[in-house]
Amino acid sequence: MNAPVIAASILAADFARLGEEAERVLAAGADWIHFDVMDQHYVPNLTVGPMVCAALRRFGIRAPIDVHLMVEPVDALALAFAEAGADLISFHPEASRHPHRTVQAIRRAGCQVGLALNPATPLSWLDHLLEELDLVLLMSVDPGFGGQSFLPMVLPKIRAVRARIETLRRPVRLEVDGGIKADTVGEAAAAGADTFVAGTAIFGAPDYAAAIAGLRAAIAAGAG
Ligand code: DX5
Ligand code: ZN
Repeated sequence: MNAPVIAASILAADFARLGEEAERVLAAGADWIHFDVMDQHYVPNLTVGPMVCAALRRFGIRAPIDVHLMVEPVDALALAFAEAGADLISFHPEASRHPHRTVQAIRRAGCQVGLALNPATPLSWLDHLLEELDLVLLMSVDPGFGGQSFLPMVLPKIRAVRARIETLRRPVRLEVDGGIKADTVGEAAAAGADTFVAGTAIFGAPDYAAAIAGLRAAIAAGAG
């Protein structure tokens, strides 16, 4: 299995000081910056676009930027994020008319590609796409807002995707997103996730390093 990755979701950061927040969370031990993009169409909320991603790069953020597109349509914005310095771009397949074409376009633009599935989205989307992916993102809340509670219904889905990934020859990451905290991350790790998005659990804590250390300890205990 891949080494665990903690992706800090900037959705819970102080947007007025975003560059410093990203710097602080990386210094505190986060591996990736998880960049949640919402369009008030695919989801009922609105966040930030590629200009803000490019601004983080200009500010000096060098860590992987893991862009989670919750937008419809997908293609033009995905390419704009590739230009803006994203490393990995995930999208929701039902928001794209031609998901396979979207996967190929993101890869051609030089980024890794992830497919994001909501709690009620069936795994059959993976049937003809899994082999083309670098990451599967399983939502453990309905997308649109930070600070929601982890849905245990996603645990069997994590196990099922892990089993499918194990049949591949390539390492594909399995990311879980939504309600990840010290008391839920262990079960997600035990079910087979290796990449963990956390927003409120990190940015809502007084000490980012202690929050991240707590997540890592719970991941190790769960995966153990
Ligand atoms: C929700 C976003 C998540 C969100 C997670 O639509 O995709 O990445 O920021 O936030 P927490 O960790 O607070 O549940
Ligand atoms: Zn996300």
